[in-house]
Amino acid sequence: MCGIFAYLNYNVNRERRYILQVLFNGLRRLEYRGYDSAGISIDNSTSDPITCSCSSSSSSSQPLLNSLPLSPPPLVFRQEGNIESLVKSVYQEVATIDLNLEESFSIHAGIAHTGGPLTESQLHGIVIPKHQHFPFKANAVAHYIWISGAQPVTFSQVVLEVMRHLEGAYALIFKSRHYPNELIACKRGSPLLLGVKELNEDINSGSAFHDAKFLSMDGHSKELFLSSDANAIVEHTKRVLVIEDGEVVHLKDGSVSILKFDNDKGRHSGAHSRPSSVQRALSVLEMEVEQINKGNYEHYMQKEIHEQPESLTTTMRGRLIRGGSCKAKTVLLGGLKDHLKTIRRSRRIVFVGCGTSYNAALAARPILEELSGVPVTMEIASDLVDRQGPIYREDTAVFVSQSGETADTLLAFEYALENGALCVGITNTVSSAIARHTHCGVHINAGAEIGVASTKAYTSQIVVMAMLALAIGGDAISSQARREAIIDGLFDLPNRVREVLKLDHEMKDLAKLLMAEQSLLVFGRGYNYATALEGALKVKEVALMHSEGMLAGEMKHVAYSKQQSVIQQLHARKGRLIVMCSKGDAASVSPGESCRVIEVPQVEDCLQPVVNIVPLQLLAYHLTVLKGYNVDQPRNLAKSVTTQSQNSPSPDGLAKLDSKAAQVAGESGQY
Ligand code: AGP
Repeated sequence: MCGIFAYLNYNVNRERRYILQVLFNGLRRLEYRGYDSAGISIDNSTSDPITCSCSSSSSSSQPLLNSLPLSPPPLVFRQEGNIESLVKSVYQEVATIDLNLEESFSIHAGIAHTGGPLTESQLHGIVIPKHQHFPFKANAVAHYIWISGAQPVTFSQVVLEVMRHLEGAYALIFKSRHYPNELIACKRGSPLLLGVKELNEDINSGSAFHDAKFLSMDGHSKELFLSSDANAIVEHTKRVLVIEDGEVVHLKDGSVSILKFDNDKGRHSGAHSRPSSVQRALSVLEMEVEQINKGNYEHYMQKEIHEQPESLTTTMRGRLIRGGSCKAKTVLLGGLKDHLKTIRRSRRIVFVGCGTSYNAALAARPILEELSGVPVTMEIASDLVDRQGPIYREDTAVFVSQSGETADTLLAFEYALENGALCVGITNTVSSAIARHTHCGVHINAGAEIGVASTKAYTSQIVVMAMLALAIGGDAISSQARREAIIDGLFDLPNRVREVLKLDHEMKDLAKLLMAEQSLLVFGRGYNYATALEGALKVKEVALMHSEGMLAGEMKHVAYSKQQSVIQQLHARKGRLIVMCSKGDAASVSPGESCRVIEVPQVEDCLQPVVNIVPLQLLAYHLTVLKGYNVDQPRNLAKSVTTQSQNSPSPDGLAKLDSKAAQVAGESGQY
């Protein structure tokens, strides 16, 4: 939930109208994450700067704020509700104050954010007075802070001082009238990226940043973008810098400098630790603009459901090996190859995740147990942390997360790491905390998922975990035939999913029949227990209808061996039945004519959840659209929950993860 975005143009003329549009578009790209309000801040007119008349009590020889030229106060706009309400209110206000939208700025720094309901302090901005006593909670800090009073110093020194007193996870962008046309960004635990777009030719994409005026004074026209989400940057540039915890990135005079601040040292010693300068090469975003557009679809969720044949293909690309001279069928997961032995020797594999990611792990659990012979247990991240459940050095803990930033999952990861487990990440977000801090892992490569309801990430997660099972299963002769059948099944899976997507119209008709219902119960067993939970979750999340996933074997707590007996029981009790079965099985499973049957292609048992979830995703989508609800941003639901569900946030935990992971693995974040 919540996001930030900033745009700084340097040595290139941009009209105020253009700047506003860039900021609004940035916010639109963050919209999918969920929010209750939004705000932006841009400069007022470029008229002569005012000289500050504040008094000073400082005797420092450094420049004083009150001796700096003071630009006019920036314009700040905030609005509860969606981005379009903000856009509307900004243009209304602009008209009221007669602000010139054609005014051109050769350099300008604008900032924007989405956030929770507006608090008193956000309504009025947070002013850090001369002798403000810290600490304040990080999540109470507005995304823009005005510095008042008479403390001396450079902009980065001011921000370093603020950071020293912040608690919890945060990503912040600072703009100040005392430092016109400058921006500062810093973060801890939450993601933050800098995008660099050079407007002159002759770009060296491997350029390194460093403290001493990177790109400085070269007069090159450039545009710089800061965002908590790569989606807001990729349409401008793919050249990015991933900002690390404790870093302060200062954008000034077209240059970028990075200072690293050791928060622990400063806090515990009480002394002001000196920040060190950092050099870093830009990296290239591995995503395409098309991924974040809806294309010919009406909604992101619809697009993401329908692109599953392609996303599954990308997930498996280069990882499945079939043929060659020895005709072997194997799996190659580069990020795990150095750790497979350790995983095989684990006392236990513990899957940890939330929501859909948990369900994906549940779907993969049986095949992992079967092929690895290692016991696999399941943990909902928040529950593991609440219980402080046992995790041992001999365990392998696998963290499954689409975003790689879910706070509960990160907290559980921190906990498992402290307990000495080998930590493996499975995530869709390359520069996420999970990807960067776990000992090793696998990227699911499903492409950007914008719809709040996870769909294509779910199926790709299952496939990655099936490949994980194959990799751990290794070359055991006893299971060779089984492994090869699964590999063949994986190769064929995109086609089978393409086939099941043809049920779209049928699922829309079913949605019409069901839309007035109060409740939907979804039963499944074995590999499809997860399908029942995930199908029900999808309906709950977007169609806002009561829905429950149940283990079919738990019906009346009787251990019936076949799903069929459950169907018979429900039919006898006049339940309105919809049965999903393999093609050709309809006659044998359907208890009567009143029962509606959805036939899906049969695949290898462990891959069946990938196929079976698709009709339920379509059903949830159509139910939602028919009810007239917002399917991509359902009410009260955020794409990624970056605040913990319990009360003991660990502000410094993530900052320590890199070094701890490195101690165990020799190198962190190998994927
Ligand atoms: C999925 O539709 C939901 N958005 C939610 O349950 C999600 O799966 C959960 O919050 C975990 O998110 P993650 O995979 O990004 O960690």
